[in-house]
Amino acid sequence: MRVLVIHGPNLNLLGEREPAIYGSQTLAAIDAAIAELARELSIEATCVQHNAEGAIIDELHAARKTYDAIVLNPGAYTHYSYAIADAIAAISVPVVEAHLSNTQAREAFRRTSVVGPVCVGTIAGFGAQSYLLALRAAANLAK
Ligand code: DQA
Repeated sequence: MRVLVIHGPNLNLLGEREPAIYGSQTLAAIDAAIAELARELSIEATCVQHNAEGAIIDELHAARKTYDAIVLNPGAYTHYSYAIADAIAAISVPVVEAHLSNTQAREAFRRTSVVGPVCVGTIAGFGAQSYLLALRAAANLAK
């Protein structure tokens, strides 16, 4: 079983980016925790990060032949990218939306997710743990 984890824009700066909101763990540390949980669950997890909207869309397209489930943190694209929402709708691989912060408890523009309706579900607000919870959910979906 193969799960693709896609980190969206600005998440490459985790650790130094607004640590009070996103925590002090680097993306490399989060990816290491994802790899460790994947081993425990006996699944394969691949992590990628893209700042560009088109690169995320290309990754979703390519994943449709190769992966059983996807965990996606679209970053700020969450709130306005109909192109990413369309890409998710276009593929049959189930997608779990994940966010480090509780987007419902922040600025008004973050309370809307245009990708939420085409994802199986959303996990938000648990910091780096959101990815691990999302990976468990994705592994269960892929079964
Ligand atoms: C985020 C929340 C988004 O609103 C924000 O633009 C991000 C990170 C999160 O993981 O909490 O870049 O997706």
